Amino acid sequence: MFEMKKGFKDGFLWGGATAANQFEGAYNEDGKGLTIADVSPGGKQRMKLLRDDSYPLEIDLEKYTYPNHLGIDFYHRYKEDIALFAEMGFKTFRMSISWARIFPNGDDAQPNEAGLKHYENVIDELLKYNIEPTITISHYETPLNLVKSYGGWKNRELIGLFEKYARTILERYASKVTYWMTFNEINTGVLGSFFTLGMRNESLNNNFQALHNQFVASAKAVKIARELNPNIKMGCMSIYATMYAYDSNPVTVAETMEENRMFNYFCNDVQVRGEYPTYAHSFFTKNNVVLDVQPGDLEVIKENTMDYLSFSYYMSTTHALKTAEKEESEGNFFGGTKNPYLEASEWGWEIDPVGLRIALNDLYGRYGVPLYISENGLGAVDNVEEDGSIHDDYRIDYLRKHISEMEKAVTIDGVDLMAYTAWGCIDLVSASTGEMAKRYGFIYVDLDDEGKGTLERSRKDSFEWYKNVISTNGVAIQK
Ligand code: BG6
Repeated sequence: MFEMKKGFKDGFLWGGATAANQFEGAYNEDGKGLTIADVSPGGKQRMKLLRDDSYPLEIDLEKYTYPNHLGIDFYHRYKEDIALFAEMGFKTFRMSISWARIFPNGDDAQPNEAGLKHYENVIDELLKYNIEPTITISHYETPLNLVKSYGGWKNRELIGLFEKYARTILERYASKVTYWMTFNEINTGVLGSFFTLGMRNESLNNNFQALHNQFVASAKAVKIARELNPNIKMGCMSIYATMYAYDSNPVTVAETMEENRMFNYFCNDVQVRGEYPTYAHSFFTKNNVVLDVQPGDLEVIKENTMDYLSFSYYMSTTHALKTAEKEESEGNFFGGTKNPYLEASEWGWEIDPVGLRIALNDLYGRYGVPLYISENGLGAVDNVEEDGSIHDDYRIDYLRKHISEMEKAVTIDGVDLMAYTAWGCIDLVSASTGEMAKRYGFIYVDLDDEGKGTLERSRKDSFEWYKNVISTNGVAIQK
């Protein structure tokens, strides 16, 4: 009566993921306006400036470099790059649309046709190779004007502006693109992330107001998409960090539970279940958060829940009591307590493949909708040999272990997993540190942190390996 599933399902969407601001370059071409990514200084200082509240909102070429301005020049080289994705056998390619290519200031009366045409060309190029585009509507690319003149997402006006932007791109591409995500890593807003909220170090109240506005904006985009094409699949996107209690003290476990639900569940609960969970009400009361919820907001959220849930997974995190003796660990948006059982990447991110199986089970058990792993990968320094080859066996090892755990989640645990897109399938600029040196790709790009290099593309060893994984639908993970 009951049959065990075997391996990844037919039509599994293997592929790679990117974000416009981290790889397109052409930051001021063809009518594009500036986004928050265009004022992001290169180098490890990026996050520090945010913490110190001295993050600039202007370009200052005397003080900083801006690797995102050139990216890896995908804007002009997309045909060459997509041909390489096709050679690897990609079934899907996750990319974002830069809002400011479509509405340069975010609040313009008319969209920029050159921007719309550009993405149409990219989509058509992908479809030429039968690669399904997956489009993120907003991936850390809020137009700068919406930050400077409107104060970012705490301002309700952004709901209408986003709705207009979403409608414009959905009307244009809904017949060609099936898979969409609204906001990248929306739950980083819980931590007050500038990249998602377009706000620097504001009150908890403003952070949650901004998130509320994004939930409404996201639900409105889902509504528009379904009206345009009922076959469209809309997903939310969060970071998921499997969360462990540092010890078996029930107090540590209870604290971990509280942290876990506000970070890993809250945004998914609202977007997949369609309502604010009761624990959020208590959190708001305890922290004096009072939201401006307008008539119709909760209804639009309730009526437009997601078809699938997508998440990025790079690491797990461990929670200890403040009083515990422990060492700290690092991460892109948050650290935690060092987990004695795990090794870390060169950037201090703890590597935990088993945590991915736990994540898949946790999310599928809670929500019961198909899951889409929209980001996963290892940021590492690659060395180019004299003959031009790049032996990135550490990356293959990382990916192999994670994909093996995915396979267990599917086969042993029965999780409905629909897609896996490896982050930065082609080397690109790091989001947290603005570096090129932190590489994730199967495809190497000859470019360094100072912007020097030929921009030439070459295949790393992981290229062949991933190609094999895809062509065997995951059977060849061990090879
Ligand atoms: C995710 C983001 O947080 O992690 C990506 O969605 C980002 O934009 C990725 O690039 C990896 O982080 P980093 O800082 O190594 O680029």
